[in-house]
Amino acid sequence: MRQALIVGNWKMHKTVAEARELARALRACAPTPEVDIVLCPPFTALFAVAQELHGSGISLGAQTMHELPSGAFTGEVSPVMLRELGVSYVILGHSERRQYYGETDESVASKVRSALAHGITPIIAVGESAQEHARGETKRKVLAQTTAALQGLTEEAVCAVTIAYEPIWAIGTGLADEPADANEVMGYIRNFLPSLRDVRILYGGSMKGENAAALMTQPHIDGGLIGGASLTASSFAAIVDAAAHSSKAAT
Ligand code: PGA
Repeated sequence: MRQALIVGNWKMHKTVAEARELARALRACAPTPEVDIVLCPPFTALFAVAQELHGSGISLGAQTMHELPSGAFTGEVSPVMLRELGVSYVILGHSERRQYYGETDESVASKVRSALAHGITPIIAVGESAQEHARGETKRKVLAQTTAALQGLTEEAVCAVTIAYEPIWAIGTGLADEPADANEVMGYIRNFLPSLRDVRILYGGSMKGENAAALMTQPHIDGGLIGGASLTASSFAAIVDAAAHSSKAAT
């Protein structure tokens, strides 16, 4: 059984005051035993959101991290600092980090190893561009990114990661992938790498209340990485609700 997992990626949104308000609202309406929930506010709001979520069962995530525990790396945040705040998940290799901040398959792989070593669950984001999609290279690209991120991990370590398949052309566009098409890509990755059998694979890219049930009932879609629709309590709670009603056994 792979428990459903819904992750809110707030990106560069929410001041501390706004983050507190959203966390409080979600605490009131979102929790359900069928679904694991993770909120990933910006670094500046992690401490405040940790306070608001205390005892709620909702977990805290970061949007990226440096791989080293400390050092002369101006502007960076380390896994030790995140652990101190109660962070238990970290998104690694989001397409925006790869596109704007030079994240590579190699840097993602070393961050994955570091996150695991520090007891933080990496949510490894992979996905093809619109051009790669049009050229029919989706599976090749997604498999290559996944394999690279898991490089050098033991089978046991692989079991501790989470993967997020996010077609780049679907992120923030309002145009989600067809549920069956996303499922096919995710099933391909899972079947190609047998150690991913029990690993949760999330879908990301314009997932919202209206399409969450159709996505979540697909056998290989175990949850969602939500951007825009995670920024208000009602739209995020609608996705959690759809996930709770679509909970399913492992395939
Ligand atoms: P979106 O973003 O839900 O706004 O498409 C998803 C993501 O970037 O993780």
